[in-house]
Amino acid sequence: MAVNHVTTRREGGITILTLNRPDKLNALNKDIFDDLKSALDMIQTDASVRVLVIIGGGKAFSVGADLKERQGMNEKDILLRFEAVRVLYQRLEYFPLPTIAAINGTALGGGLELALCCDIRVVSQAATLGFPEVELAIIPGNGGTQRLPRLIGVSKAMELILTAKRLSADEALGLGIVSHVAPDALVAARTLAVRMLDMGPIALKQAKLAVKKGIELPIGDALKFEVDCYKNCLYSKDRTEGLKAFSEKRRPEYQGE
Ligand code: COA
Repeated sequence: MAVNHVTTRREGGITILTLNRPDKLNALNKDIFDDLKSALDMIQTDASVRVLVIIGGGKAFSVGADLKERQGMNEKDILLRFEAVRVLYQRLEYFPLPTIAAINGTALGGGLELALCCDIRVVSQAATLGFPEVELAIIPGNGGTQRLPRLIGVSKAMELILTAKRLSADEALGLGIVSHVAPDALVAARTLAVRMLDMGPIALKQAKLAVKKGIELPIGDALKFEVDCYKNCLYSKDRTEGLKAFSEKRRPEYQGE
């Protein structure tokens, strides 16, 4: 499928979504956001997709907001865009599939904020990550000031945001922003995704939900919520198949039912 500035391709149960403005280092303009939304709509209706990988076309992941487009936008336009991106990024954060950002190159500003909405981030050795916004007299306002401190702690996030520090892949790994550094982020992402294809699809969704929602709750409520997520696996045919396959010493064949 080609929707202009975002493309998708299937590799079995994996969909690889590519941000596709390589000549502009995948700077995020209206078209790319619109096409990202359309791509998510399409992926969400396809029950055969089990894992979503997001990557940047060309040498960058994404350099963030399209600063040239931004020059032609007034304050009202910018606020409307922010609201749309807030909704879009939150949708990606809670997307009902495991999501992996394959950070193949530079990920700055809104590009890094997009990656922070994914469940797992893997990064190519040569990539650079950071939030340059304060250099431009703005803030990382599409989740950067909120998701980064929740991920790595307030103190480290403050330093990165307030100094607009550019991080190497190894520094990002050390801080816990990414979970893997590899020569090729897509190869590393694909390895993780292929492994997930062997898992119960309902279990993947429910495990994600348990982690994401549970972390927002007081521990007592979170533990109850975890049981609710477990129950959503308990009555599935896949759970029965998993036990049957174990006793028959064969690989389970999960249907996502
Ligand atoms: N918005 C719009 N266009 C951008 C862009 C952005 N954020 N970042 C890069 N581009 C465009 C450049 O204008 C250039 O297009 P052109 O050839 O039509 O002039 C093209 O992408 C390549 O960028 P270039 O700067 O030549 O590449 P580089 O490898 O020398 O530098 C960066 C790469 C990322 C260091 C540099 O482009 C940069 O600092 N970009 C701004 C990043 C930023 O501040 N993002 C945060 C936004 S809040």
